[in-house]
Amino acid sequence: MKNIPHPIQYQGSKRNLAPIILRYVPKNINRLIEPFSGSAAISIAVAARQIAKSYLINDLNKPLAELLQLIVEFPIETASFYENIWNEQHSDSLEHYYKVRSDFNRTQDPRLFLYLLARCVKGSVRYNSDGMFNQSPDKRRHGTQPKTMRTNIYGVSTLLNGKTEFSSSDYRDVLTKAKPTDLVYMDPPYQGVCGERDSRYFSGIHHNDFISALEELNSREISYIVSYDGRRGDKTFGELLPNSLGLTRIELEAGRSSQATLLGRDEVTYESLYLSHALTDKLAHKQIDYRQAKPQQHSLFEPITHYA
Ligand SMILES: C[S@@+](CC[C@H](N)C(=O)[O-])C[C@H]1O[C@@H](n2cnc3c(N)ncnc32)[C@H](O)[C@@H]1O
Repeated sequence: MKNIPHPIQYQGSKRNLAPIILRYVPKNINRLIEPFSGSAAISIAVAARQIAKSYLINDLNKPLAELLQLIVEFPIETASFYENIWNEQHSDSLEHYYKVRSDFNRTQDPRLFLYLLARCVKGSVRYNSDGMFNQSPDKRRHGTQPKTMRTNIYGVSTLLNGKTEFSSSDYRDVLTKAKPTDLVYMDPPYQGVCGERDSRYFSGIHHNDFISALEELNSREISYIVSYDGRRGDKTFGELLPNSLGLTRIELEAGRSSQATLLGRDEVTYESLYLSHALTDKLAHKQIDYRQAKPQQHSLFEPITHYA
């Protein structure tokens, strides 16, 4: 999926996996709900293919959810603000970054957040125990050029404006709004590093609460997809979701570890994707052969595990 706009650099973004994840999205869904939207890579990809009529984008990280809303609803102003702040950095780029960071921590202005995400190390957000953004600047780059940023912002706005609702609530509140004609895509914070506090994201979630929320969705016949655990070589990270949820689990090849390749080891990272039974029922007519491996960059299906 080339030329899909992405204004927000965000570690853990699903933009590279989106083409594979979209294979499990039925055609003509009423609304796509992303309770853990991050950079909203899946909503953007679904909108680019005009698969859903409307979108609900939510992230507990308030400046992030507000930033997405500004990009979609006020693209001209948001792009101009970025251009101005980007141009300011040239006298002393690092000092400028630290000043913007402290202004952001004081004001929580989402427009400052856009610059920090574009300018910080690998777009990877980091928070201290007081919830202050404390990621360092990338010393080798100056952040996305304003012209490129403007193109990306306008692109996302064109795709989502007029059909998207934004919120910044806990995912459980968002799930109460889901209807059987919607599709919910969930990409919660990584396990193993999160627990209650995850310095990599704004907040973490509890595994057991998440399972209860999925049980509840099952009882309401909601179609959903979850990106959850994964593995690299033989090492798994994160707990699997339990069989009792009746989900279909697929492993997606998410990339090769460059460190391991250097050391002569062939270590591929796989991420699990779980499909709810309401969704697999809808997909039945698509006759997806989950077992058919289709090797290509970023995608290779492992044999599917059907959970009873
Ligand atoms: C793995 S990231 C999602 C990345 C996203 N799929 C993308 O493509 O950019 C998980 C997100 O969940 C958010 N989050 C953490 N706890 C949450 C909660 N309880 N409710 C809603 N969102 C939450 C984090 O702020 C983070 O942006």
